Amino acid sequence: MERGFDEAKCRQLAGSLLARYDREGRDLPWRRTRDPYRIWLAEIMLQQTGVKTVLAYYARFLERFPTIQSLAAAELEAVLSIWQGLGYYRRARHLHATARQVSDELGGRFPETCEAMGRLPGIGPSTAGAILAIAFGQHQAILDGNVKRVLARLLALETPPDAPAGKRILWEQARRLTPRERPGDYAQAIMDLGATVCSPRRPACPSCPWQGDCAACRLGRPDLYPVRLARMPKPRKYQFQALVTRPDGRVLLLPNRDATLLGGLWHPPGDEPGGSPTPPEAQIVRRHLAEAFGIDVATPLPLEAVTHTFTHFHLTVFPFLCSWQAGEPPEASGGRWIDWRLDRHTPLATLHRKVLARLG
Ligand code: ADE
Repeated sequence: MERGFDEAKCRQLAGSLLARYDREGRDLPWRRTRDPYRIWLAEIMLQQTGVKTVLAYYARFLERFPTIQSLAAAELEAVLSIWQGLGYYRRARHLHATARQVSDELGGRFPETCEAMGRLPGIGPSTAGAILAIAFGQHQAILDGNVKRVLARLLALETPPDAPAGKRILWEQARRLTPRERPGDYAQAIMDLGATVCSPRRPACPSCPWQGDCAACRLGRPDLYPVRLARMPKPRKYQFQALVTRPDGRVLLLPNRDATLLGGLWHPPGDEPGGSPTPPEAQIVRRHLAEAFGIDVATPLPLEAVTHTFTHFHLTVFPFLCSWQAGEPPEASGGRWIDWRLDRHTPLATLHRKVLARLG
């Protein structure tokens, strides 16, 4: 069943969802404000992270950067150091870039059209819709991961939601279901339903206001929807990292200056991730430090490997304990000796904290 619903049915569905939201919707801090800055921040954090984790980061972030001007005036590193551990660091770089654009070029006000909002870094069509609906009360639809799941089940959609045809059908349905009254509450309500009732593995259909109209529920297997695109398995990559330690416990860390996966964060020196699944000989690690940084170390000692999963690949890191003997990193490398457990200002990804923790 992919035809969708007529106008009267859409109104009824929106009504029953809003009634549930009024009764049982979660009380979340970004639901107590109409401030576009606070709503935008919540939507960006919630793009790839669950509500429970976001709550603590959200409060800390707003304490440190209470206005868009304060965020625009900050250094990127200060933003990343609040963001560390939340993952998907591109969001933090985009957040900073958007704050500067809004503050410097748009007079401190967020644009109020979908097109202009969607041109800001890190804001796609669904996030733009959510901000416009929630902060400005505009009649705009959203289609994030939760909403895709809810609607794919409601329609028993046989097309994967991320295939072009699936996207088209779901956006069309999302627009038709969004009511003219209370579009912002509706956006929150459908995200809430997806996060709490219509969960990925075990949807709680008896608690759902849409149960009677849900095609997947009628078929008895809501968990079979959304239908998935056949995915390529993630490749595994390997690299070594040298934990060069000084007698006072500080280690050598380098800034990642690329706008890549972990751009703006700091990491131990090592080789590029590649395909060889065996750890290198200690002498290779030692030579790398001598050639790339002019640093001499005692024979590197292999430590237990660390594994981590990114969006597009798995990574195995082979850490080596390297006791520093002589040499300083060249100025151009930006390398610094850092007491990584105490220094809260040097942003580190969770992966690199795990690698450093192998030092014991
Ligand atoms: N996920 C994305 N946006 C959300 C919001 N405003 N409330 C709860 N979960 C969300």
